[in-house]
Amino acid sequence: MQLMLWENRFNLGIETFDTHHMRLFDILNNAYNSVQLNDTQRINALLDELREYASYHFSAEEELMGRHSYLGLVGHANEHEEFLSHISVFQQSMKNNEPLYKVPIVVFLREWFINHVLVVDRGYVKLLDNDSKP
Ligand SMILES: [Fe+2]
Repeated sequence: MQLMLWENRFNLGIETFDTHHMRLFDILNNAYNSVQLNDTQRINALLDELREYASYHFSAEEELMGRHSYLGLVGHANEHEEFLSHISVFQQSMKNNEPLYKVPIVVFLREWFINHVLVVDRGYVKLLDNDSKP
């Protein structure tokens, strides 16, 4: 069973970032499957992978926003930071053997992803013309 299917509306039209988002999407789906299987070790490994890949992707976005003096950069970067710290909190909860956190982890990450890609990331896309897209 899949957590979500990729939809056209998730595409920003910036190929590099759309590819990053698809990869994050895959990691989320894998994490969802691991929750279904109650495979705590795998969930943890996937959260590590998510944190690592999300950090890489967020840095790329922030670099682009910085290069274009995007006024929303600080707020946007704060959202990124918040996401990463949520993952750490979830991992700590799992380490403490609090299994109730597993489903909320996936629900939270899914909601965050949808909101971020559909709303927050659109903020900088509007400012870029085709020539300045990476
Ligand atoms: Fe972003």
